[in-house]
Amino acid sequence: MALPIAVLVSGSGSNLQALIDRIEQGALDARIALVLSNKEGAYGLERARKHRLPHVCIPHADYPDRAEFDRAMIRAIRKAGGEAVVMAGFMRMITGEFLRAFPGKVINIHPALLPSFPGVHGPRDAADYGVAISGCTVHFVDEIMDHGPVIIQAAVPAYPEDDGQTLGGRILACEHRVLPQAVQWLATDRLRLEGRKVRVQPAPVPKAGEVPGALVNPPLELGF
Ligand code: GAR
Repeated sequence: MALPIAVLVSGSGSNLQALIDRIEQGALDARIALVLSNKEGAYGLERARKHRLPHVCIPHADYPDRAEFDRAMIRAIRKAGGEAVVMAGFMRMITGEFLRAFPGKVINIHPALLPSFPGVHGPRDAADYGVAISGCTVHFVDEIMDHGPVIIQAAVPAYPEDDGQTLGGRILACEHRVLPQAVQWLATDRLRLEGRKVRVQPAPVPKAGEVPGALVNPPLELGF
């Protein structure tokens, strides 16, 4: 059965769109039980509307503190039947109470190779630093910002000409590939936590007619 997920957004929601697309293609064994934004006017809400997905805006400014805001989110997610939470461009820290409501089932995508460049300006900070390689990280969420165990990372080159926007755009294209993959592993119970380390259980043997994962060398180029 498809895992019911809540997707938390604060902005454009292009990562949400990547999840929607993979689900609609039948590649992802999850269903979006709720799209939740803390920002009115977030384009992620519009994407949810377009795809007739349940969505809600819970502005954090309407709540006296983080604890009350998180309780409102927990209530909305439970009411919608969400069992796992994907933070996809959600620009708020969450509380331990929220994490305990969905134990082992809260993941986040961050646009940098953690533990480098945590925070809200990952690509800009990496570009300003002058790194030659950056990327993105999907990780389990814990109570420290951008800190939990790493599920998957992807690297992209960074160039001296880059600023946060150009590097961020290159990273975002990678995010759209690795986030659905991480959610698929979560949805099919393939992730095992060993301390800080995440082990991905081997893929099941492909059924007849399915294309198996294959080692290709020289690597396939874009579009093939
Ligand atoms: C993405 O790059 C995501 O990794 C980042 O916000 C962007 C949201 O884009 N998240 C963070 O920086 C969290 N610290 P999207 O709304 O188009 O998915």
